[in-house]
Amino acid sequence: SVKDCNIINLTKIHNQAGNITVLENNKSIPFQVKRVYYLYDVPMGSERGGHGHYQLEQFIVAASGSFTIVLDDGKDKKYFFLNNPSEALYIKPGIWREIINFSSGSICLVLASQEYSEKDYIRDYDKYLQWKLLK
Ligand code: TYD
Repeated sequence: SVKDCNIINLTKIHNQAGNITVLENNKSIPFQVKRVYYLYDVPMGSERGGHGHYQLEQFIVAASGSFTIVLDDGKDKKYFFLNNPSEALYIKPGIWREIINFSSGSICLVLASQEYSEKDYIRDYDKYLQWKLLK
């Protein structure tokens, strides 16, 4: 459920010349990363996501700028404002998500537990709700 999806504080290695944050399998990230992708040049007012995943686990970082992630498990919704590269949102399998309010120049960095497969997507919200009731 969305109750198990939370912000994880990442370690920041700081000095006068800037910051470094490191992501490593099974340490800061609670799964084996199989894929990394990032959203960028998102036009003002655009919304991304709008789908669920059956199996996929994700770790999302606002590498630059800010945006809001809305998580929905069919029962509850949770809103996360991400604007800090030293924080990540962990998303469990089976959650519906939307990403809204992208700031200009923002970069949404996503680490994912599986390679891309359209079969893992649920793109229809009613179908998502039906699937949740069957669980
Ligand atoms: P989608 O996941 O629907 O985008 P978002 O949730 O950010 O709105 O993906 C958009 C398009 O990109 C879709 O045609 C599938 C393609 N795509 C890949 O080919 N590989 C990938 O790893 C991802 C994430 C998307």
